Amino acid sequence: MTAATVHLMSRDTQWDAARRLGLTVGDEILDGGSAARVFRATGTDGADVALKVLTADAGLVDGHDLDSFLGKLRQLSWIRAGDETLAARCLPVLHAVRGPGWAAYTTPFYESVDSAASLRLGPDCGAFFDLQAGLVKDLIVYGYGQAVAPVGPDFLTSAMVDRIPRRWPVLRAALPAEVLDADPLVVNGVPCVNPKRMLAGLTDLPRPWWTRLAPPRLMFPAHGDLNTRNVLVGADGFRLIDPRGATAWWDPVYDLAKTLFSLTVWDPALRLGAHVRRDGGGWLAGFRQPVYPGYAAAARLFIDRLRAMPALAALFGDDPHWVDRLLWAHALHTLAEAPCRLSDRKPRHDPAGRPIAPEELALCHFLLGTLLLNDLAGSAGDVDAGSHLALVAGTLPTP
Ligand SMILES: Nc1ncnc2c1ncn2[C@@H]1O[C@H](COP(=O)(O)OP(=O)(O)OP(=O)(O)O)[C@@H](O)[C@H]1O
Ligand SMILES: [Mg+2]
Repeated sequence: MTAATVHLMSRDTQWDAARRLGLTVGDEILDGGSAARVFRATGTDGADVALKVLTADAGLVDGHDLDSFLGKLRQLSWIRAGDETLAARCLPVLHAVRGPGWAAYTTPFYESVDSAASLRLGPDCGAFFDLQAGLVKDLIVYGYGQAVAPVGPDFLTSAMVDRIPRRWPVLRAALPAEVLDADPLVVNGVPCVNPKRMLAGLTDLPRPWWTRLAPPRLMFPAHGDLNTRNVLVGADGFRLIDPRGATAWWDPVYDLAKTLFSLTVWDPALRLGAHVRRDGGGWLAGFRQPVYPGYAAAARLFIDRLRAMPALAALFGDDPHWVDRLLWAHALHTLAEAPCRLSDRKPRHDPAGRPIAPEELALCHFLLGTLLLNDLAGSAGDVDAGSHLALVAGTLPTP
């Protein structure tokens, strides 16, 4: 895919931004997972930057909108004011500009690969978990753990559940009603309660085990969107980019679940393609090729490796339900990502060069999220993490 082809996709605000910042725009970087567009660009001093531009098109989900985009700058300045060790791990914003209906910022270009790259080479997870140990320690000791705040009674609902009904109209506009309204919705042979009804039942009349899952306190908003592509690994270690864009107090479990979700569903679907087809009265959902063995192995080991990290053991010492909460956050991320896939219009291709449509990705996330949520709700707080994650991490292509 050449940069020139991609530039035809939407209003090319990157040229306005580049002119105002004195940049020469190079290739587009297609690794991001949102409506924002990122280009490698060169300044008049010869140094390369990443130029990130967002146009406020209609139909963007919350989190991919202009306010969240600008919120990232506010959050980064909070992190800078908070702790210099964590700040040094975050790529700094060099310049920010706004135009009519768009905003852009630059960060120094960092030669790197995403944090899951080592897992695509084979089943060995050693390098990945070495990286996680350093990352989690820095984020906890110098980030989340640097300050705490009381948690309100509705945190789980407002931070994790409410985004799903809020984004439902985006799904309605693109996904078939026979899927969105099915109740039961049969996914990979399992009859599931429709996720909207299931979540409404859970939060309108919270079950005791749901209430128990809440974190005992909130912590400093150290990131908020810790997917594997937001951690860049270079010759001198790693850098964080692209925080959530919120300065509200936060639950680190949300971020750990984002990393796990990157391994089980999100990154495999974006790289390998989603495969969804009808199966009698229900649906089969999976990927076009078997998931990378390294991803499947890392997903299987993820929770045990987290438990063994001293910084996490200290953080969660009085939070006995953090693993169950992590599994709920993982399932809710999977479902909530379905509408996000629809506002990311970047061209994507599977390893055989076949296009991957946003609608296919959205449907796959919706179906797998429904399956995961139903599995958790059915177990009423007593979950076996291994067999639960195997529902998606072991998903093979459907014939
Ligand atoms: N400074 C940088 N140096 C090298 N690569 C970068 C840099 N900034 C971004 N990238 C690459 O571009 C990708 C997308 O950037 P980024 O994560 O900021 O956007 P996004 O995920 O699309 O947007 P959103 O902010 O809406 O979540 C990154 O995953 C990374 O591969
Ligand atoms: Mg990103």
